[in-house]
Amino acid sequence: MIHDVNQTMPFSFTSPEFMQNPYPFYDMLRSQHPLHWGTLFKYPGWYVTGYEEALTILKDTRFKNRIPLPETSKKYEQLKNIQNNMLLFKNEPDHKRLRLLVSNVFTPRIVESYRPYIQKTVNDLLQQVQNKKTMDVVSDFAFPLASLIIAKILGIPQEEQYQFREWAASLIPTIDFTRSRKALINGNIMIIVLQDYFKELIKKCKRSPEEGLINQLINEEQQGDRLTDEEILATCILLVIAGHETTVNLISNSILALLNHPRQLMELKGKPWLIESAVEEFLRYESPTQMTARIASEDIEIKQTTIKKGDQIYILLGAANRDPRKFKNAHLLDITRNPNHHLAFGYGAHFCLGAPLARLEAQLAIQTLLDRADNLKLAAPEPQWRKLIGFRALNELPITFDRVG
Ligand code: HEM
Repeated sequence: MIHDVNQTMPFSFTSPEFMQNPYPFYDMLRSQHPLHWGTLFKYPGWYVTGYEEALTILKDTRFKNRIPLPETSKKYEQLKNIQNNMLLFKNEPDHKRLRLLVSNVFTPRIVESYRPYIQKTVNDLLQQVQNKKTMDVVSDFAFPLASLIIAKILGIPQEEQYQFREWAASLIPTIDFTRSRKALINGNIMIIVLQDYFKELIKKCKRSPEEGLINQLINEEQQGDRLTDEEILATCILLVIAGHETTVNLISNSILALLNHPRQLMELKGKPWLIESAVEEFLRYESPTQMTARIASEDIEIKQTTIKKGDQIYILLGAANRDPRKFKNAHLLDITRNPNHHLAFGYGAHFCLGAPLARLEAQLAIQTLLDRADNLKLAAPEPQWRKLIGFRALNELPITFDRVG
């Protein structure tokens, strides 16, 4: 049976109302059917809003990941080539091989070794705004924090980190579902710049082997197998795109959620040991990655619905994480929620490799801000969200506060 969204849902994923608050639309879709066929933006496909349905699809490797570029054009050939080599868009057996070689750079021990640098960077950034008693959380805190950390991990010199804003601004729209031809062409130009930049950096690392992620990738060997130069390049670029923007959004979205729930803000301030479960709840409540996609490699039956070979599937992680059949009071923020098996980092073969790093950065950033600042308040009545479907990202988040101590 096919549930056609277009006949029942008079809205589009690109409408301003949806961008500002997608959750009522997700609920409407789910109440029709958690697995819906329709065209809610450019491409037709199955829209998955139910938690169990999303989980089933993410677990099943017959639903393939694929590069988000069905269009072929010489104008974005380089972008396509790089994406083809990215772990995120590989399928078995290539995915397993690449993941084995890349996963060792994000072990809990390695991520834990970044803690002192992350804490120092958080302290320095807050020091810079403390006397002003005001900041834009996105551009003064979350963005520089996430760029400084990933840059340090990749071995990008501090003075070259200003480029992150430009890289992210051009590349995020190429992996979002709203992508336009213009965004792809701009992204392709930026990929050429990035390719040259990272090729040089990789050469430098090979000449003077020091500690660091690129050297780990160069030296990583599993069962006689190593990463090729193209794979190292694509991995570095994937980390810049996948690891940076999402972490900025996690930190900014979490602070907005707390400002909108002052009682929970005070609770977290008084009980710092709740920070781990609070970050899990922010991930569920305002998931930085709202959507991911798959393609069916054969006819597959899910809950009496047949998905045909070649069908596109849009898994709305942000909707699954608000499914009332899975989460009690799904639309309520509860920093003590336990258990909290959200899908914000995906599930299965492609489960986010950077999850431990993202969690640590968010925990330290939020906890230190609450520690150092009192009377945190929103400085703009209703913060605006960026016009993206796949990501939940604020344009800016101006706040005011009183300095502590
Ligand atoms: C994969 C979310 C931070 C690296 C994923 C996936 C999601 C996700 C949902 C799976 C996509 C799919 O199944 O199609 C997030 C969120 C983050 C975050 C919400 C921050 C809050 C990071 C960081 C890094 C990173 C900090 C690394 C520095 C990756 C990589 C993959 C991935 C390499 C691909 C894994 C694979 O295909 O095997 N992420 N991510 N992510 N993420 Fe993250």
